[in-house]
Amino acid sequence: MPIVHLNGQNLPANEACVPVLDRGFIFGDGVYEMIPVFGGRPFRLDEHLRRLEDSLSETRIPNLHTRLEWATLIQGLIDANGRGDQSLYLQVTRGPAARDHALPENPAPTVFAMSNPLRPPADETLEQGIKAITLDDIRWARCHIKAISLLPNILLRQTALDADAAEAILIRDGYATEGAASNLFAVFDEKPGGVLVTPPKGPRLLPGITRDVILELAEAHGITHREADIRREDLARASEIWVTSSTKEILPVTTLDGEPVGDGKPGPVFRRMYELYQANKAHLQVG
Ligand code: PDD
Repeated sequence: MPIVHLNGQNLPANEACVPVLDRGFIFGDGVYEMIPVFGGRPFRLDEHLRRLEDSLSETRIPNLHTRLEWATLIQGLIDANGRGDQSLYLQVTRGPAARDHALPENPAPTVFAMSNPLRPPADETLEQGIKAITLDDIRWARCHIKAISLLPNILLRQTALDADAAEAILIRDGYATEGAASNLFAVFDEKPGGVLVTPPKGPRLLPGITRDVILELAEAHGITHREADIRREDLARASEIWVTSSTKEILPVTTLDGEPVGDGKPGPVFRRMYELYQANKAHLQVG
């Protein structure tokens, strides 16, 4: 039985209970983080905690912990679950209160965390890439907040799965923003070696931690890159498209809306970035 964390206590998952009036349950009123753990150590923890702080402050949910306290809580749960590679899910809701849209005066936030084994994408997936489809972005106008209310994301992802695709690439006002649970990159052959492009941060997309790592690696290793809007029709002339997240890492999209992306195989910029990303992870484990 996995060990979870609930309001200051580590306990077996089947013993952890949340009151039915918790606003997370009633309204989806909460925020979360998904932190990858490699070799028992959280990856980019500071960046995840900074984004958690931003999500809490934007939603006006009190932050109960200092960064050091969060880090201690997280490491305790990683250790309790046997170290190794894990995906660490951390959720803070506004806590239990009588049902009323108005914010409670004295909220008592619920802090919950759990860990699941983290498996890297299968070799076959990396060799063949994935299929994706474009869908209209039906989400709200504050997608930079990592909110637990993910009903639109769930429906979008399921629409993709129903169409035999692994991810939905979302379109808002004619621009591709991100995936249903991932950020978006495209390579355009504007110059030799290509130019790596990802949409700029803003309320249309989640500021992904993996996205930042990739931009950092591109900068450090001389891969030409820029943050710029990607029009829906630009996707058709991209030589590579990737989706990225803490759990998927970097996945090449080789079929989009039934058409091959580039030559229909994972491209050279992907292969280079994938190596750089793995080396960055390995560095964390020895560092
Ligand atoms: N989701 N955009 C959306 C909408 C996401 O849900 C995610 C990740 C990302 C990538 O962010 P990061 O690189 O920080 O993981 C972008 C997580 C993994 C999830 O909901 O499970």
